[in-house]
Amino acid sequence: MRTIDWVDGKIRLIDQTRLPKEEVWLSLRTVEELAEAISSLRVRGAPALGVAGALGVALAARQAREGGEDVGEAIAYAASLLASTRPTAVNLKWGIERVKRVYDPAKPETGDELVEQARAMVAEDEEINRLIGEVGASLLEGGSRVLTHCNAGALACVAHGTALSIVEVAHERGLVAGVTATETRPLLQGSRLTAWELRRMGVPHRVTIDSGAAGLIASGEIDVVVTGADRVAANGDVANKVGTYALALAAKASGVPFVVAAPLSTIDLETPDGSAIPIEERSASEVLEVNGTQIAPEGTQAYNPAFDVTPASLISAIVTELGVVRPGVEDLRALVEASQRTAKAGSPGEDLDVSP
Ligand code: MRU
Repeated sequence: MRTIDWVDGKIRLIDQTRLPKEEVWLSLRTVEELAEAISSLRVRGAPALGVAGALGVALAARQAREGGEDVGEAIAYAASLLASTRPTAVNLKWGIERVKRVYDPAKPETGDELVEQARAMVAEDEEINRLIGEVGASLLEGGSRVLTHCNAGALACVAHGTALSIVEVAHERGLVAGVTATETRPLLQGSRLTAWELRRMGVPHRVTIDSGAAGLIASGEIDVVVTGADRVAANGDVANKVGTYALALAAKASGVPFVVAAPLSTIDLETPDGSAIPIEERSASEVLEVNGTQIAPEGTQAYNPAFDVTPASLISAIVTELGVVRPGVEDLRALVEASQRTAKAGSPGEDLDVSP
């Protein structure tokens, strides 16, 4: 299942706000519709946002060309609108820029080059995430009891997921005893989305309240914590769904490995460390209301960061499509730069060691 794709000249995606009750697929016709879908988390998760940004810029370019409008202006407008929707996941800007670069104002567009590039990125994302699963599953032992946070599954990517791709492959290899998903307040990506995906995968699972996770880790019932990432800074600090830092602290205190799964497109070498990562703050109503009913007294203020930063020192391993990096032991920069050299040579990943 591709949770986001280019179909018949439109961006087709599953509306994640309606899950698990209803499977509603949307066909987005304009970049404004896509911006709304991103802001309201109909599409969410770092790799899915990268692909959404790419498809959105391609859509705008194609519409401008068909309508006889200025393609360059349409691309600039789409890029700036989409980039302003969510600041933390670096994949969004990465996806936008990768498609933008295909446009050369000196050579008027002859066809659908931008659409072709965006569609290639959709296919690439699917392959990359399966590779992450294969690389990461090699870190798990038989009978693994896994804890994950938020949703880093197929819904957060084009297919497979990052953290959940590791679970998928490890489950195929008979290595997973069960998965505990945190509910992930306030938008409940764990209860709504991760539980939905684990059920479809046939993996034994349960949901815990977020505040139950540290005690569960301390009790010895978790063998490994595996999460995704929204941005990995050059020094290995990781921004991910708020609450990830607390899980990493709990894992460190109990000697439980804390593994982050992320494609190279989530690694941002221009951000030196976690303190430079912009953290999105969302509306107070997400915290103060439940199902549209105000719970806290009128006038109560809220603190609602969507993400937090986990320092590299708490992370046992970062699993990428090209292998495992242990922050403080191996160098993220070397991995990313080696992949860029290989891509320039025209054969992505060919001579890089993908063994964990
Ligand atoms: O606010 P969200 O739901 O977009 O947050 C998503 C996460 O934090 C995910 O863990 C992250 O994007 C990695 S998805 C493979």
